[in-house]
Amino acid sequence: MLDNLNPPQLAAVTLDPTRHALVLAGAGSGKTRVLTTRMAWLIRNGMTSPHSLLAVTFTNKAARK
Ligand SMILES: Nc1ncnc2c1ncn2[C@@H]1O[C@H](COP(=O)(O)OP(=O)(O)O)[C@@H](O)[C@H]1O
Ligand SMILES: [Mg+2]
Repeated sequence: MLDNLNPPQLAAVTLDPTRHALVLAGAGSGKTRVLTTRMAWLIRNGMTSPHSLLAVTFTNKAARK
């Protein structure tokens, strides 16, 4: 699960579960991979329940012009 992450991604994914993080990086740089892998990592390690996670996403096409 963690094998294909670069060092900043790995740091964000494995951050202490009690800590908050802002993931700020350019388009296509791997932010979504960080978010989805962190959710999987937290669940896999029993640090949270899938029922206590919520992910919300949007696209620029959904934004008001
Ligand atoms: N560490 C990585 N190594 C190789 N490919 C990656 C890595 N992180 C992300 N990718 C790939 O790069 C593309 C963009 O990643 P994504 O997480 O969608 O970026 P963002 O959300 O920042 O736009 C996807 O195809 C993703 O699978
Ligand atoms: Mg994204």
